[in-house]
Amino acid sequence: MTVLRLGEVTSTQDVAKQLAADGAEHGTVVRAERQTAGRGRLGRRWASAPGDGLLFSIVLRPGGLLRDAPLLTLGAAAGLALALDVQVKWPNDLVVDAGPERPPLKLGGILGELEAEPGGAVRHVVLGVGLNVLQRAFPEELPWATSLWIQRGVRHPARSVEVDREEVFERAVAAILEWQGHAERLNLWRSRAHTLGRRVEITTGEGDDRSTVAGLATGLADDGALIVDGRPVYVGEVGASQGAASG
Ligand code: BTN
Repeated sequence: MTVLRLGEVTSTQDVAKQLAADGAEHGTVVRAERQTAGRGRLGRRWASAPGDGLLFSIVLRPGGLLRDAPLLTLGAAAGLALALDVQVKWPNDLVVDAGPERPPLKLGGILGELEAEPGGAVRHVVLGVGLNVLQRAFPEELPWATSLWIQRGVRHPARSVEVDREEVFERAVAAILEWQGHAERLNLWRSRAHTLGRRVEITTGEGDDRSTVAGLATGLADDGALIVDGRPVYVGEVGASQGAASG
């Protein structure tokens, strides 16, 4: 496995996508300390202070078709959730529970970008991972963010357990690459789900195309859709208003 460690980049996604286009092998990792244009899902930014978080992208050559792509990000999130002992918020946010009627706290996220042949065969996928590791606090505009360091204080009040960023990096990369098939990963996702069994409000689209689906999230379909009140939802953001289902 090749790991390219860089100081400042626009986005590790940009570097990894270029390497992938140039033929980089499956499992090539690009890690940076700073991103000037880090990006998240649904066109959002991803910002992280140098030295605190983990910012990396992995080139994958999984084969398969375009329609399988969501399973890769869901599966990567499930593997990371297991490795870090946290939960997943659909589709691929890494979260920790914040108590009844409160949205979970976000520890990290995954962005999947891919190239496919005109017929739909996947050429390569670049999975970008942002993890909050050593942050002691977050700005006011990110009230739902947390880090492994903050969570360690919750789980081990005496702070008797160290948070080692390098060790978290090794564990995270291994969790993504040790892949035993989509079915196993989907089941892992289900077992690590924060979203299932809760009332959710999911926003899809932007501007005039913006719409909301609200209901009880009961399952994850085999194609990665979240089942809300019996209907599949394929893309969107689970809103901050989610809460435990009552009855
Ligand atoms: C999300 O939760 O919206 C996904 C966030 C993904 C952020 C990571 S940081 C490393 C990689 N480079 C980027 O520009 N984005 C991903």
